[in-house]
Amino acid sequence: MAPRVTAVLLGILLPCCLAWPSPHSAPRLSLSYKELLQTRTARPFAFTFNTSDYRILRVDQDQDRLYLGTRDYLVSLDLQNINKEPLIIHWPAPSSHQSECHLAGKGQQGECFNYVRLAEPLNRTHLYVCGTGACRPVCALVHRGWRSQEYLFRLVPQSLEPGKGRCPYDPRQSNLALLVNGTLYAGMQVDFMGTDAALFRTMGPRPAVRTEQHDSRWLYDPVFLRAHVIPDSSESSDDKLYFFFREKALEGTMGPAVLARVGRVCLNDDGGHRALVNKWTTFLKARLVCSVVGDDGMETFFDELRDVFLLPTQDEKNPRLYGLFSTLGSVFRGSAVCTYPLSAIRTVFNGPFAHKEGHNHQWVPYTGRVPYPRPGACPGGTFTPGLHSTQEFSDELVAFVRAHPLMYTPVYPPQRRPLLVRANVPYSFTTLAVDLVDAVDGRYEVFFLGTDRGTVQKVLVLPTDPGILEEVTLEEVEVFKTPAPVTSLWISSKRHQLYVSSEVGLAQLSLHRCGAYGPACADCCLARDPYCAWDGRHCARYRPGTTRRVRRQDVRHGDPLRQCWGFNANEQQLVEQVQFGVEGGSVFLECHPRSPHAQARWLVQPEDGARRPLPRDRVLLQTPQGVLLGPVAPSDGGKYQCVSTENGYRRLLSALRLHVLPRSLLGGAGPPHPICESWWGRPHAGRQSQIGTVQRARDPDSQWIAQNTEGAWIRTEFLGTSEGGLDLRWNWTRTSQHSQELPVGRRSPPRH
Ligand SMILES: *[C@@H]1O[C@H](CO)[C@@H](O)[C@H](O)[C@H]1NC(C)=O
Ligand SMILES: *[C@@H]1O[C@H](CO)[C@@H](O)[C@H](O)[C@H]1NC(C)=O
Ligand SMILES: *[C@@H]1O[C@H](CO)[C@@H](O)[C@H](O)[C@H]1NC(C)=O
Ligand SMILES: *[C@@H]1O[C@H](CO)[C@@H](O)[C@H](O)[C@H]1NC(C)=O
Repeated sequence: MAPRVTAVLLGILLPCCLAWPSPHSAPRLSLSYKELLQTRTARPFAFTFNTSDYRILRVDQDQDRLYLGTRDYLVSLDLQNINKEPLIIHWPAPSSHQSECHLAGKGQQGECFNYVRLAEPLNRTHLYVCGTGACRPVCALVHRGWRSQEYLFRLVPQSLEPGKGRCPYDPRQSNLALLVNGTLYAGMQVDFMGTDAALFRTMGPRPAVRTEQHDSRWLYDPVFLRAHVIPDSSESSDDKLYFFFREKALEGTMGPAVLARVGRVCLNDDGGHRALVNKWTTFLKARLVCSVVGDDGMETFFDELRDVFLLPTQDEKNPRLYGLFSTLGSVFRGSAVCTYPLSAIRTVFNGPFAHKEGHNHQWVPYTGRVPYPRPGACPGGTFTPGLHSTQEFSDELVAFVRAHPLMYTPVYPPQRRPLLVRANVPYSFTTLAVDLVDAVDGRYEVFFLGTDRGTVQKVLVLPTDPGILEEVTLEEVEVFKTPAPVTSLWISSKRHQLYVSSEVGLAQLSLHRCGAYGPACADCCLARDPYCAWDGRHCARYRPGTTRRVRRQDVRHGDPLRQCWGFNANEQQLVEQVQFGVEGGSVFLECHPRSPHAQARWLVQPEDGARRPLPRDRVLLQTPQGVLLGPVAPSDGGKYQCVSTENGYRRLLSALRLHVLPRSLLGGAGPPHPICESWWGRPHAGRQSQIGTVQRARDPDSQWIAQNTEGAWIRTEFLGTSEGGLDLRWNWTRTSQHSQELPVGRRSPPRH
């Protein structure tokens, strides 16, 4: 093999030892949009029509359809392949409504379109759908046929009706909607100005009810996120709607501005008889706390609830609930995921009510007599078998409910700790989905987290010791060509797919990309992905219950030594490279571990000596891509090996032989140092701080040595690039005997 000359950077005097972010918070595998598509495990929605604001509104596993709402469109997609014959309804607001919207002075933020925000299955053949309708909410039925094979998808024109109280006016406001047994539960701002927010129940056999109007004790500028019906006992009269939102804090000016809430109402609430007529009489809410306690005992709260995910379990009364939170603090930026057992939520709703005597008083636990039945209990339920309707509630009970909607005690997660935390990272999480995965050594929770920069992270949370959690970020993938915050995520365990939407598009991804971890058993094992196992030849999807002799997986420990004995034939055979340097110059030795969780270390074996770690004083600069040695002397020649260690597993990443050419070989050329020092001596402080991720700092060819012998010297400059890497640029400078500088050109190294 021909000797390859790699980058030799002359006389760069740089501070060594720059600090890198801690390697363990980084995703072990990061894929750009292009790289993700190359894995053939992702499919972007390929139909482009003139729209925006993509949101996954509902996934119907029975009919195998995904309903997507966008600006002026409602789309029904095949879950297996979102690009297979999509059914599309164009549903713009009538032009008269659009002009009225503009006449009312709106439209600067694009409000004068119909943003489709609700699509709920009403029965086997029809969907109920709503849109903002150019600031005049509108709802309708969509006929979708009995089966998706009928390719039927059309708006029923006679069914159009006003959507006030079901869909927001302003597309920038979020809403929640859930249609259960023909009854619609919807939470949103009811008017355009956003002065009246409510949780409504409409349609269905029961009277329409809503939250008390203009009472900040009930709702204070809320942002509704999600709702789920969760039975509280085997008695169906006890069934409740649990809903999740954030709102301004009532609890005074001292605390946080926004708080996370869980609220609940009885499904069979018919409102009050004399007071709270057509209002909820079983409405209660409590604070959800997700916080971390620092070493100094200070508690940092994540109060901005962003998303809630419900994972059903065998026990339908006790699904697993996960909340995604962020902080908006100017000092501290972060996200966290907390889980809340239903039992903890129920305990808080059975605990003390928050009470406030007057304006200047503190919130305290209510210690007076609590009316019977206890506020929040459903009529006809386990504790109130004799009651038939909330209209039979006593005036005293209704008055109490009206004044005490808030519970005093907040709901904490187990051990008062988040499952995962991200702090001081340049992104925050926006959406969350969770999958329970059966692996060889147990069952694991895998988190899919959408970010505000258009990526999805896959994170594994492992219980290590009792009470200690270890978080492993398996991968981060760029889902959209144009990065935009992820607006919704939907997981289908059955199809093994994740659906992701943003302002600009929709994509479906497989839950795993086992092949992307690398060709060797060790790569598969170190990845610790519960979806993947080594099958003897490849890293491939692990399906529990399949009978294959070879199945190597170790999610808990990720230990290749134990798992991959005799399976490392696919480890790359390394070819020793040859690299040249010039005495007094510097040499970049490239070594790029695939995983940011690995630590790389150089060993050197001089021509006449034993192998030893590379002495620190030989290193000018250390980067994740390698080390810069210099100034080099002929005695630096020898064998160099880069060894990476990840999770206790060592592997050889590169091996090379360095030859240092004596300066005398270079003929009449002047000494490198004065020239380069004079350049670096100029004020470049700002640039030096950027240096750190030198990418592919390879010299393109060996020509420059020839040039050098004619008296040309290289100057190098690192420049940040749009991809976040650094470009290596250099100027050819013909120097005279007096080191006079004359730039003669400039080019960029080829990108590999
Ligand atoms: C896209 O739609 C918007 C709003 O309807 C319209 O103003 C714009 O002209 C359309 N663009 C194209 C390329 O059709
Ligand atoms: C579904 O509801 C619509 C509207 O109420 C009705 O026309 C249709 O017959 C219903 N379909 C079934 C299967 O019940
Ligand atoms: C819907 O109605 C059916 C029949 O009345 C009932 O069995 C079921 O529990 C109801 N579902 C919910 C979520 O209330
Ligand atoms: C390289 O040459 C170009 C053009 O002469 C000049 O603008 C640039 O500043 C030079 N860069 C360095 C590092 O000297």
